[in-house]
Amino acid sequence: MRAEQPGSSQEPASLPLEIRRMQLPDLEEVMAVERLAFKHPWSTELFRRELLHDWSTVLLCARPRGRAEPDAEATPEVLGFVIFWLVHDEVHVLNLACHPSVRRRGIARRLLVEAIEQGRRGGASLVTLEVRRSNFPALALYRDLGFRAVGIRPNYYVDEGEDAVVMILDL
Ligand SMILES: CC(C)(COP(=O)(O)OP(=O)(O)OC[C@H]1O[C@@H](n2cnc3c(N)ncnc32)[C@H](O)[C@@H]1OP(=O)(O)O)[C@@H](O)C(=O)NCCC(=O)NCCS
Repeated sequence: MRAEQPGSSQEPASLPLEIRRMQLPDLEEVMAVERLAFKHPWSTELFRRELLHDWSTVLLCARPRGRAEPDAEATPEVLGFVIFWLVHDEVHVLNLACHPSVRRRGIARRLLVEAIEQGRRGGASLVTLEVRRSNFPALALYRDLGFRAVGIRPNYYVDEGEDAVVMILDL
């Protein structure tokens, strides 16, 4: 997975939010979060492809559709997403991001906890991921959820020649 942007410290949100699977009509809003979160964003085509693989799941944290809030048009519906593959007994987390306007409100944590739970129900005994060595917010999040670093992949991120930390969580 990739690096970026420090979070802003804010109080937990009292927003009514739901975790649901991404569908094709969500693509534009998901891409908006992706572009805000990463210096080297995935392409639209890559996201579209994830929706086609049986082994891949894209979960969104979103405001429920059809809400009647006064600021409904001004605020995004999709606030974060996680992409994971379930292959045999392993969940592999490929991508995770939260909209910069709602960081440090537990959105990424909720998404990961749900991904882990779905993996567990699907028979997984292990969760794996890679994270940029410099991505302190993400490293802190994963450690907080019980992941441990088990190795380094040198120059894994070819864009900037940055190493990846490989992390795992035993279920
Ligand atoms: C990393 C990221 C997904 C975290 O999203 P988030 O919704 O703000 O994270 P959460 O609010 O769920 O944070 C949960 C815990 O993670 C840790 N954490 C998250 N952001 C942190 C930060 N900026 N500094 C220190 N710890 C942080 C904390 O332990 C936090 O718990 P706390 O708020 O109770 O202290 C978000 O910063 C992001 O989208 N970054 C850009 C994309 C990215 O780097 N994705 C990960 C690729 S591997």
